[in-house]
Amino acid sequence: MISVKIPATSANLGPGFDCLGLALQLHNTITVETNRPFKISLAGSYCNGIPADESNLVWQTMCHFWDLVHYPTPSVALTFENHIPPARGLGSSSAAIVGGLVAANTIAGSPYTKYELLQVANALEGHPDNVTPALYGGVTLSIPTEDGILPRVLAQSPKLRAVVVIPDLLLKTEKARGILPADVSRNDAVFNISHAGLLIEAFIREEYSLLKEGMRDVLHQNQRSVLIPGLLETLAAALQAGAYGAALSGSGPTLIALIPDHLQLDVSQNMLNTMNQAGITAQSLVLDIDSGGATASSI
Ligand code: HSE
Repeated sequence: MISVKIPATSANLGPGFDCLGLALQLHNTITVETNRPFKISLAGSYCNGIPADESNLVWQTMCHFWDLVHYPTPSVALTFENHIPPARGLGSSSAAIVGGLVAANTIAGSPYTKYELLQVANALEGHPDNVTPALYGGVTLSIPTEDGILPRVLAQSPKLRAVVVIPDLLLKTEKARGILPADVSRNDAVFNISHAGLLIEAFIREEYSLLKEGMRDVLHQNQRSVLIPGLLETLAAALQAGAYGAALSGSGPTLIALIPDHLQLDVSQNMLNTMNQAGITAQSLVLDIDSGGATASSI
């Protein structure tokens, strides 16, 4: 029997659209029992709407991997314990894909390296900014190259925590991408390139005071604020309460603030109050950065 633990992830971090991301200590777990009749059992906080039949995304991903490596599909019983809320910008579909790949690879005797799994995960998921931190942990940069995605871990265990504010709204990535213009102006491109550079410096030098400026974005957050009432005000509220920096998590609706340890209550409360004033109920979590990425263990 094996168990695979996969972290939630937060993509973009403001200016790093489709390339920066980090892993959070909020996990889904997939348990696989081999030589059992096929069965999917669901547990954990978020099971509603997850198919427990062969159309399930984790199972589909496992079968896809076994096809790729010509490994005969085994009969297995799967148990999912899901704690990552779906459709909230915390990487739940990446977690399903990465978890399915790591589980299937382990069962097949680990024919693929982590780098090779990343290439498969990226081809299935479409954007690497969630799958890279889900596999590698820490704060990551995903670079599209002619040979595939080049993953870089900028900081494995940064000395900060995250407040995530999760509105009671579902928002599909396709919808949140659909409202973005296809082209960007040169000024906006320069703004985001320079800010992403500063953000990377902040993590590499552990100079988190740079995050306030470094997490600013002009390519997607303002545009998405029409879908997420209170978005811009709540990011401002995080900074006002002392967060190092704050951004929309992935394509939203969750917001993430990076904070020093002692400010967790102030930042959470200020963000929640501001969301509530915009008429949106939400819950907040204070999470550490996950430094290990998806891991498989025998149990
Ligand atoms: N970077 C994506 C977006 C979400 O903002 O649309 C995660 O892949």
